[in-house]
Amino acid sequence: MTDTVIDYGAEQAGVEEKVEALLGQMTLEEKVGQMVQISIDGPGREKAEARIRAGQVGSVLNTYGAAEINHLQRLAVEESRLGIPLLIGNDVIHGYRTIFPIPLAESCTWDPDLVEEAARIAAEEATADGTHWIFAPMVDVCRDPRWGRIAEGAGEDPTLGAAMARARARGLQAGDLASGRRAVACPKHYVAYGAAEGGRDYNTVDISERTLRDVYLPPFQSAFRAGAGSVMSSFNEIAGVPASANALILDQILRRELGFPGIVVSDWNAIAELLNHGLAADRAEAARLAALAGVDMDMVSDCYHCHLADLVRQGTVPEEVVDRSVRRILRLKLMLGLFEQPDVDEAAAAAAILRPEYRDKALEIAQKSAVLLKNEGDLLPLGPEVRHVALFGPLADDAYNVLGCWHRIGRAEDAESLLDGLRAVLPPEVRLVHVPGCDLEGGEAAEMERAVLAARDADVAIVAVGEAESMSGEAHSRAHLGLPGMQQALVEAVQATGTPTVVVLMSGRPLVVPWLAEHVPAILQAWHGGIRAGRAVAEILTGAAEPGGRLTAGWPRAEGQIPIHYAHKNTGRPADLLGPVVTDTVNTSTYIDESYEPLWPFGYGLGYTRLEYSDLAVETPRLGLGDTLAVSVTVRNVGHRAGDEVVQLYVRDLVGSVSRPVKELKAFRRISLAADESRRVRLEVPVQQLGFHGPDLAYVVEPGAFRLWVGPNAAEGLEETFEVVA
Ligand code: GLC
Repeated sequence: MTDTVIDYGAEQAGVEEKVEALLGQMTLEEKVGQMVQISIDGPGREKAEARIRAGQVGSVLNTYGAAEINHLQRLAVEESRLGIPLLIGNDVIHGYRTIFPIPLAESCTWDPDLVEEAARIAAEEATADGTHWIFAPMVDVCRDPRWGRIAEGAGEDPTLGAAMARARARGLQAGDLASGRRAVACPKHYVAYGAAEGGRDYNTVDISERTLRDVYLPPFQSAFRAGAGSVMSSFNEIAGVPASANALILDQILRRELGFPGIVVSDWNAIAELLNHGLAADRAEAARLAALAGVDMDMVSDCYHCHLADLVRQGTVPEEVVDRSVRRILRLKLMLGLFEQPDVDEAAAAAAILRPEYRDKALEIAQKSAVLLKNEGDLLPLGPEVRHVALFGPLADDAYNVLGCWHRIGRAEDAESLLDGLRAVLPPEVRLVHVPGCDLEGGEAAEMERAVLAARDADVAIVAVGEAESMSGEAHSRAHLGLPGMQQALVEAVQATGTPTVVVLMSGRPLVVPWLAEHVPAILQAWHGGIRAGRAVAEILTGAAEPGGRLTAGWPRAEGQIPIHYAHKNTGRPADLLGPVVTDTVNTSTYIDESYEPLWPFGYGLGYTRLEYSDLAVETPRLGLGDTLAVSVTVRNVGHRAGDEVVQLYVRDLVGSVSRPVKELKAFRRISLAADESRRVRLEVPVQQLGFHGPDLAYVVEPGAFRLWVGPNAAEGLEETFEVVA
């Protein structure tokens, strides 16, 4: 792992002097120009280039490729009056050309070091090719799989999300990249975008400030602590005030409390959308609100370009507000080394892409992010007795959708389908038959009949079903989370032949698949697993690799349960009678037609071996506010093959000045155990991390009784108690 991470908040010799010297030469129009980002991806190219030459553009996005980017930089550096280089921004969400599993899948590795490596590889490829402002990591906590962008984040939990946010920011901002360049990360979408009502993208977010601070902010704080040099304000409103005009989050919290030194860029057109929100009557008002709230750069709305200079001249926006933003932008450009080295080496760029070791890393991550949800009778891994495999499903021979919803310049030609993978790993004497059976959203009865016939003769049937990459991601929320089209019917028809059936789910989110859970003996959630997905799944199915993933988002039984998450409150009438007072065993917080519990819980995932937990010990059962909770547990691999485990520590604060969740993840560790190996695992949590935002919204750790659990997921584990004393 790199130990050289660029902290864009750190002082750098000479930078401040250069900033002031440059600022002192700039006209008001040139200052505003630095606060403008335009997209270079379509019509109006000539006008865009003219604006760059005129010093009216500080950054561009959606341009890829060293040659193209060098051309744009030359326009800025050689033809504008002050020669200030451009920030080149792009979405590199789960890989640049080496496309990794979607971030939700990556988070299921519960392996921050591995995720950091993936982010570093993305930064290597992107910086070599001219992109140095990476609009990632997406760190939005999400407890609603209807929301298409659950695919982009790290799931439902702030602690796990914070660990992944740190890892991704560190990887993207590694200071010793082979490319010789530096990148700046941009955690997004600030803030609470994942709490959209109804799971509908861009929808209203109306949460308490306590929930904002306890749940949605921690991953951002973690990325900032890792040195992230920018942040992107989100589309949504928070309790009535859209993020891009929200002084509470952009000034009070971000600047005054967190001391964030980097730049704030609005999300796409978000400043102009203040009119849709009904917060601004016109674009000039929108520009005023965003500038005063603290948005430093306007992504493509042109509200700043058209109105900010006039607003300053009218005195409605102090020039100091503009100077403050321009200083941040110039500082970042200097710290990125753009003034010294605006161009990238076009010859070196091609050699930096899709290196063999990057492809290997993509395979490892795809294996460790796949979650084995069910494995009745140990059907998996397929044994040597399997001599005839039948492969079905619209995603069986698909190397495009596995790229996932934010693959950008990733290409299907770089990827392996499951059919490719099985052809590569099955011994030549094993017969492999492939019949799609149906499409992702449609199909013909005759094709399904062909599949049924093929299934009857086989020793095992593998059905690859799920979502197209376009069914998740931005603006792709779903109200019905079952298998689209005829896929469910295909699985039922194959299952009905009596041939042992394995379902491989490939999706951008947890799907609602209760029938599969009840009737299909083996289910593997492979997500959209990136360019090596097919090989990874094939190696898992045949036992050459273990399914290493553990869920980072609880899996609903029905859409009606959503939002669903393990760190829920107990309520006054808990369904599982977790309370000390049993008021009524009938009228409790559950459904009359469904369980209140997830189908598979947060943290859950099966392996190919068996692990047992024993001898949980709390080293100091009474802890002061400055102490560290330390627990140890023995984990034993009682199976016959090596395997990984993610040991998870959850706590519950039994009584607080505000109600506390029934469980909260506070520490975890991924370990590898040989067959029969036993390991004593020790986990630590500083007591100061056991707090919350109290009645006055100040962060507080309150003395009192706690419970803790250590185990394989949020629903089970060895239990102990401890006490925090003042
Ligand atoms: C999009 C997304 C954001 C992305 C930006 C630039 O609308 O919300 O995540 O970084 O625009 O593409």
